[in-house]
Formats: sequence, C-alpha cells, structure tokens
Amino acid sequence: MEERLSELVQLAGAGMGAGAAGPATELIFGDWYPAVGGGGGGAGKTVTTMLLGIPLLVGRKRDGTVFAMRDLCPHRGIPLSAGWFDGETVMCKYHGWEFEPCGGQCVKIPSLTSHDGLEPTKIYAMSYPCVERDGYAWVYVPEPGAGRVTLGDGTELPGVPEVPKFSERYRSAHLVADLPCNVDHGIIGLMDPAHGPFVHQAWWWRSRASIHEKTKHFEPIAEGFRMVAHAPSGNSAPYKLLGVYGEPILTTIDFVLPNRRYETIRCGEKWFASLTTVTPVTASTCRIDVAAAWNVFYHVPFVTPIAKYFGAKFVGQDQQTMVEQAQGLRSNPGLMLIDDADKPAKWYFALKQARLKGVGEHPLQGPVTLHWRS
Ligand code: FES
Ligand SMILES: [Fe+2]
Repeated sequence: MEERLSELVQLAGAGMGAGAAGPATELIFGDWYPAVGGGGGGAGKTVTTMLLGIPLLVGRKRDGTVFAMRDLCPHRGIPLSAGWFDGETVMCKYHGWEFEPCGGQCVKIPSLTSHDGLEPTKIYAMSYPCVERDGYAWVYVPEPGAGRVTLGDGTELPGVPEVPKFSERYRSAHLVADLPCNVDHGIIGLMDPAHGPFVHQAWWWRSRASIHEKTKHFEPIAEGFRMVAHAPSGNSAPYKLLGVYGEPILTTIDFVLPNRRYETIRCGEKWFASLTTVTPVTASTCRIDVAAAWNVFYHVPFVTPIAKYFGAKFVGQDQQTMVEQAQGLRSNPGLMLIDDADKPAKWYFALKQARLKGVGEHPLQGPVTLHWRS
C-alpha cells in the first residue's frame, strides 16, 4: 500500500532567471518525459505546462484518465487552455469546437448546419500518450513531424519510467526545481561527482574537509551506464543514519537516456529509491524532478517532512549553482571536461550523439574504473 504525499515543493527561487536562458541544445524526441506532478490534478482539472518547447494542456477526465494535448486549437491556434473542460471534452473558447482530449478527436463543430459536408470527427487536435506514474503525468513526445501517436494505436512505445520499489508499503515525495540552463548542463550537473564538497557542504551532509580519494566501478547498460553496487561514501550523514540498522548498505546508481538517474540504496529489508529526471522545458531551459520512495523509518513520525526539508535544501543548492552558472553561460564561454571526474559527462554526450544520429558505439566497451577526490 502506498502512502502518497503528492504536494509539490516549489523551491525558493524556482523560475529565477527565466527569460534569461543561456545557449540552446539539441533535444531527444521519441521518448517519455514527466510533464507535471500531481498527475495533472483532480478529475475535471487541467494545468498548462511546456515540454521540449511544446505548450501542453494536461488534465484528468472524470473517469480518472490523464491526458496531454498540445495547447493550441487546430482551427485557428488559440490556446485550448483559454476554453473550458467539463471532465469529458475540451471546448475551445473561440468557436466552441469540442475535442475528446485523450485522442484529440474533434467531436463537435457548433457552426455546422445540414448544408455543410464537413465531418468534425475527421479533425484532430494534437494529443500525446499520457500515463500516470509516481504522481507524475508522463508524456510521450514523438519526433517532430511524426504525427499523432495514441496509446493503443499499435505504435510500439518505450516503457514508462518509474521509481523502483521493493516492498508493498512505502512513502513517497517529490521535488521540483526549474533551471535556467539547457538540459545538458542540468544532466551533467546531476552526474557530477566533484561538486559535492563545495555545493553541498553543510553540517548534516558533509564538510569540505572530508574530501578524499574515491574509486568507483562502472559498467555499460542499454543507453546508459551503471555505477555498480558499492558501499556508499562514509562521509555523508544520511548514510551514517542508515547505519543504525546495522546491515550492510549498498547503493547502485544508473544513468539512462534521455535524462534519468535512478538511485537505489538497500540495507537488508530497508530501501530508499529515487528517480531524478532533467527535462527540457525549451531548448535552453530545463526542470529537475526528483521522485523518491522509501520504507526506511516507515513508522518514525515526521520523517517525510524532514526528508523533504533536507531534500529541498539539497536540490536548492544545485539550483542556485545552476542559476549562477547560467549567468556565465550567457557569454558563451568555452568549456572543459576533465578526466576522471567529468568522464560520466563525456559518456552522456557520446550516448546522446549516438541516439540522435542513430549510429555510434556505446562509450563503455566494458567495465571501467574511475578515480576522483570528493
Ligand atoms: S480557434 Fe478553436 S474553435 Fe476556432
Ligand atoms: Fe548536486
């Protein structure tokens, strides 16, 4: 049974620097992205958002199904969000055309008379496959120009990502932060091992003085790489806390294209897992979403608000750093990636190029060991 805490923590400073974004990057289409938390709200509700530069209207029908439409009427382009949603159909504000929102089919054109031969149901608004997972409405964004894809129309879609879970009962929480940089900087910031002691120094996490040499083993996985199960760094407080269970702690971190970082920490029967994604909002801005689930300290009161408080602080430190970095990036500086600390970033760029071009080898031909100090 799941205990859900679906409210979002909008971090202080979220949206900071919007409109002042740095350079754009190429985007990966043809995959699932988390569009909005809270599954788009309650039945009969809609929200607007943007994914990969596409304005979206995300909502939930009365029967509970979530949907995502391009927020543009196919008649004359007014945002559909300007109109009405009655829990069944979306009605455009301009001329009252009505659309079934899951498939986008037009079901009514009020101006038609018996003299008109036009069949409204032959007209479609753009809609996207939309599925709810971990309290997020995940949306499949096809390649530009590929046309409309509908769930169950026979198109083979990749699996919808999900936070791994290892028991029936667990708690969960979400965090969201807007980043004023392109998705590449968001992602390589996410996998960057060397920034911890500087960006995240805090008494409850780790101090700069605790920096020491680390050796980590990686192996290739499909469209990504895995930091193989290891005992986590002894210099961070949350791991020390888990030590109270007196069992060996093992953590595994996977990165998978286009934007996913899975972290799993297991300690006997106890576990903590997260799926962190960096999603392009536009070609030059992105958003970081952390969905976490755990059964550690299940019965200890206040663990969820405390975890959210520290999680928000932690993500807020990354966010603040990227807001500052975006300021620098607006001047288009040259950039460096060094060995070994930036090696995962190099792998990311190689994987992304291989996906975009449809050719190229996996950057890891087998297990690789990296060394850095952090
Ligand atoms: S613009 Fe939407 S119905 Fe005319
Ligand atoms: Fe960080």
